[in-house]
Amino acid sequence: MRFGSIIFRLIEGYEFLYDEVLTQGQADQPVVTTTDYDQIRAQVQSILSRHERSRSSLIPILHQVQDLFGHVPPAAIAPIAQWLGIGQAEVHGVLSFYSHFRLSPQGRHHITVCAGTACHVEGTPVLLRELRRLLGIEPGQRTTDGLFSLSQVGCLGCCALAPAMVIDGRVYSNVSPARLPAILTEHGFTRGVQSDEAA
Ligand code: FES
Repeated sequence: MRFGSIIFRLIEGYEFLYDEVLTQGQADQPVVTTTDYDQIRAQVQSILSRHERSRSSLIPILHQVQDLFGHVPPAAIAPIAQWLGIGQAEVHGVLSFYSHFRLSPQGRHHITVCAGTACHVEGTPVLLRELRRLLGIEPGQRTTDGLFSLSQVGCLGCCALAPAMVIDGRVYSNVSPARLPAILTEHGFTRGVQSDEAA
């Protein structure tokens, strides 16, 4: 077997194993999809009633709210803060500190681009620019058709594959801007449809 093909197989194997790691514990589809303010507050209240009114309950509560809605709706923040006797700014602070939490719904396909040092050096800024151009959204946003959402993280833990990105738990390695249209097309991308306006 040629050296190049051995390396290729090793990378493939690594990608497979990493896929397994990434898909473990991935959030299921949201149980409740509503934008109705009163309904959100009622559902959140039911979660709150199962927790102690103490600061240490904040993260478990946020997890349960996100599991229920697929993200933490802004309407949930005031009742959570009130129940725990803390400021809304503190809830916002926790939400923005942990990249796991989302304040807006994800697209059907979620793209996570690695912005860690190795990936940055190998071309993440160019990749992000091309993703912005193709999808018409910034990290933290979702396309108007709900098909794609975009985020960036500090390091995906596979620096040897830089620049790397993940779509729906699958790792794409050594991604170049030229490969992006084909990768996105695998997930239903149609040029011009997603890029009219950001959500
Ligand atoms: S810096 Fe991108 S995977 Fe580590």
